[in-house]
Amino acid sequence: MKVLAVCGSPRKGGNSDILTDEVLRGAAEAGAETEKIYLQNIALSPCMACYGCRGKGRCVQPDDGDTVLEKMIASDAIVLSSPVYFYSISAQMKMMIDRTLPRYMEIRNKEFIFILTAAASKNEIERALEPLYGFIDCLPGSHVRAIILGDGVYQKGDVKNTKSMKEAHKVGENIYA
Ligand SMILES: Cc1cc2nc3c(=O)[nH]c(=O)nc-3n(C[C@H](O)[C@H](O)[C@H](O)COP(=O)(O)O)c2cc1C
Repeated sequence: MKVLAVCGSPRKGGNSDILTDEVLRGAAEAGAETEKIYLQNIALSPCMACYGCRGKGRCVQPDDGDTVLEKMIASDAIVLSSPVYFYSISAQMKMMIDRTLPRYMEIRNKEFIFILTAAASKNEIERALEPLYGFIDCLPGSHVRAIILGDGVYQKGDVKNTKSMKEAHKVGENIYA
């Protein structure tokens, strides 16, 4: 099984990144092949809505968007992790979601794991899940397997002493269940 993590935080080693690592650690222990992509570290531009991808299956922009898309298509499970920014997902994550346009119908039958981290409480964070659900709703046969909300975490690393760590590891461990 291939598990791909797409990380939407610009903070490497930040809270969502730490929880992502826990999921991947658990998944690797269970025998899965894992890979992590930091959207901040790749060349990625927003969708221009030119529809130049129509019938071609690739974007007209010569950046890394198509490579990430290819990896998503080739994965069995996909972790989407993002900090909560003004009660939504990060711009990096939204940009990647939009850049799946050339081949999003090929992201089929995937298991998704959502990770969101924020200073606020779980109740308040939940609405930032909406753009992620909206994405999954457009993908044939894909569904959300687990949601990990790292609440009350603000500074880089705050999440390390929270219950979310165990939760994240368990989600990874159970990836074959
Ligand atoms: C631009 C920006 C907007 C933010 N908006 C929110 C917010 O709406 N609600 C909240 O609770 N925290 C907000 N935060 C705090 C982050 O969600 C929090 O620090 C989170 O743990 C960051 O995750 P990361 O370490 O993975 O980047 C914001 C931070 C930034 C930089």
